[in-house]
Amino acid sequence: MQSPTRKKILEIFTNKQNEFVSGEELAKLLGCSRTAVWKHIEELRKEGFQLEALRKKGYRIIDTKDRVSENEIQLGLKTKKLGCTIYYVESIDSTQKLAHSLVQDGCPEGTIVVAEEQLNGRGRLARTWFSPKYSGIWMSVILRPTLPPKMSPQFTLIAAIAVVQAIAENTTLHPEIKWPNDILINGKKVSGILTELQADSDKVHAIIIGIGINVNQKQFPDELKQIATSLFIESGKETKRSHLIQAILEKIETYYQIYMEKGFAPLKLLWESYAVSIGKDIIAHTLNGDIIGKAIGITDEGVLKLEDQDEKVHLIYSADIEI
Ligand code: BTN
Repeated sequence: MQSPTRKKILEIFTNKQNEFVSGEELAKLLGCSRTAVWKHIEELRKEGFQLEALRKKGYRIIDTKDRVSENEIQLGLKTKKLGCTIYYVESIDSTQKLAHSLVQDGCPEGTIVVAEEQLNGRGRLARTWFSPKYSGIWMSVILRPTLPPKMSPQFTLIAAIAVVQAIAENTTLHPEIKWPNDILINGKKVSGILTELQADSDKVHAIIIGIGINVNQKQFPDELKQIATSLFIESGKETKRSHLIQAILEKIETYYQIYMEKGFAPLKLLWESYAVSIGKDIIAHTLNGDIIGKAIGITDEGVLKLEDQDEKVHLIYSADIEI
């Protein structure tokens, strides 16, 4: 976790915008020695912040490498709870795995785990999730709602709304949701959500929402080229990952609060407005076989409604959807 002094230094630089701040002024504002200031500046440099130092003028931030460190995420983050505790790692097998052990150690609600790279990222249905270094968002968000476990799939839908809106706000793109957990752009997958649980038979201890977003990848391995895309490939522009994370956390917090106060019903229309499959003929590959029909919407609980050619409505709780 980050030093509060370095957080304060970043706040000072942010308030001063592009101006230089002298070592003396920093020392005064922070209540420490100029040598201590210099040490903190060196630490920030190691973290990827590019700081210019000029004799007689002091320091200023020129630019930051695109990193998703605790400082980068928390600077300007407007949430009450989400992201207040951040575990940031350069490389990890899976952020979900670390999140599960943090839950067992009693971490607070809103804790997030973010990695620059995952070596064994997990997808739905025991698939792997390609998570190369410095190019995507590989994040797990821990919530601790007081709810029965059967409500947990709705959190995938809440997170999907947040991801779609955050992407739309930070790029020129208009992603769509493919029920239950895929975010698509031009028919290719740009993001996936994996919601996992720690629960008793009647009570949730924690919901861990794993979010993977392909942000700045310039290309994909051959086996993924046809099905995966990134925000960069679709827009031709790099997106600052920490800003996208901030927007996602802010939106999840807002919709989580609405959900806990009023249930899923008020979010249903919003979700449907982003859904690519609604109104279309689809095939639902379920564990009990394929069901072909028209996706006519979701229930107030977030379950997909599929109408077959005999006008029978099937409720789909879990499936792979083919459009
Ligand atoms: C899917 O579409 O199958 C879900 C993909 C979820 C990937 C994310 S990346 C962060 C988190 N950690 C993981 O190991 N998986 C999720």
